[in-house]
Amino acid sequence: MTSKRLNRIKGSATLAIAKLVSDIAQEGKDVITLSLGEPDFTTPKHICKSAIQSLRRGDTHYTPSAGIPELIDAVAKKLHADNGINVTPNQILVTAGAKQAVFIAIQAVLDEGDEAILLDPAWVSYDACITYAGARTVWAPTTPDFMPPDLGAHITDKTKLIIINSPGNPTGAVFNRKYLEEIADLAIDNDITVLSDEIYEKIIYGKTHFSIGSFEGMHDRVITINGFSKAYAMTGWRLGYMAAPADITGAALKLHSHSVSHATSFVQHAGITALRSNQSSVEEMITEFRARRDILVNGLTSIGFNCKKPDGAFYVFLDVSEYGGGDAVTKQLLREAYIAVTPGSAFGPGSAKYIRISYAASRKRIYDALDRIRDTIT
Ligand SMILES: Cc1ncc(COP(=O)(O)O)c(C=O)c1O
Repeated sequence: MTSKRLNRIKGSATLAIAKLVSDIAQEGKDVITLSLGEPDFTTPKHICKSAIQSLRRGDTHYTPSAGIPELIDAVAKKLHADNGINVTPNQILVTAGAKQAVFIAIQAVLDEGDEAILLDPAWVSYDACITYAGARTVWAPTTPDFMPPDLGAHITDKTKLIIINSPGNPTGAVFNRKYLEEIADLAIDNDITVLSDEIYEKIIYGKTHFSIGSFEGMHDRVITINGFSKAYAMTGWRLGYMAAPADITGAALKLHSHSVSHATSFVQHAGITALRSNQSSVEEMITEFRARRDILVNGLTSIGFNCKKPDGAFYVFLDVSEYGGGDAVTKQLLREAYIAVTPGSAFGPGSAKYIRISYAASRKRIYDALDRIRDTIT
């Protein structure tokens, strides 16, 4: 009874694990959840206050589909100041989370029979969005240190899109300028659009984030996506945005206007506050994430794992091939140690030997998890 289009895709693997965890927790077990891509901090108070004030003011009505002009202006200024990307208001679309921006942007550019290049491993939703559009994912395995491979070898005359995500989920890898310039050159030479998902831009440890949309010759072929979930601990608020060439933003806006209409009114007002106010809460969060990363990486190394220190995001992508591979270790950790992680197989066909461990959990929980891992799988 269901559409062929939807039958081609599976539900989100990470959300499926969240359901499993809640089932086990309901049995009274103390599950340590290291499977979520979600900061455990609460949203900074001044942002919450701004939403409350907005509600009290009566901002409870429909807004323009693309977003309220003041937020679009704040996004444009942010993109200029932080990313060196210069766009006009009609190139920006405010969405219900970065995930919705990814979905509508991909639907806006891909047709049946097109090919889109994804680096393996990649965040779980890109492949589903490509498949839903009727296009085909061409997987390009990353190098052993999770850097972009030679993408030229994967380009055909059907390639329409390359998706990049730096700092990346699930690896935490940050691409340097040289790698991004190589991708930009390929995109220009082969007339390919690049979708750059920069949701982890602020969660970076000592490295510089570069936006490919600011590079020469890329202005008219890059879709830059970002959001509020990670930098401002606003996952539940559902607020994100895309900035793209006007024709792509216009096409995405059609789908947006016929589906969600617009991002929630008072959430958009809180978004203006998040962007325009002092960013010290972001700094505090990064300092804490860095400390947790070090605890986790040092702990895993002392247990005997070969664990690279990621430069961004809040994940460690760990090779567990010596212990039976990602699927087996995920099951074992959940059943025997009550630790939830995500199997690498969720992120690409070549990533089954890994598990993704999120360190968006308190230091105490990370120490406890390390004890349980030591007792369980070594
Ligand atoms: C790489 C990446 N892009 C996009 C998203 C979606 O973020 P949002 O909560 O803004 O929809 C996530 C969330 O986990 C992510 O990891």
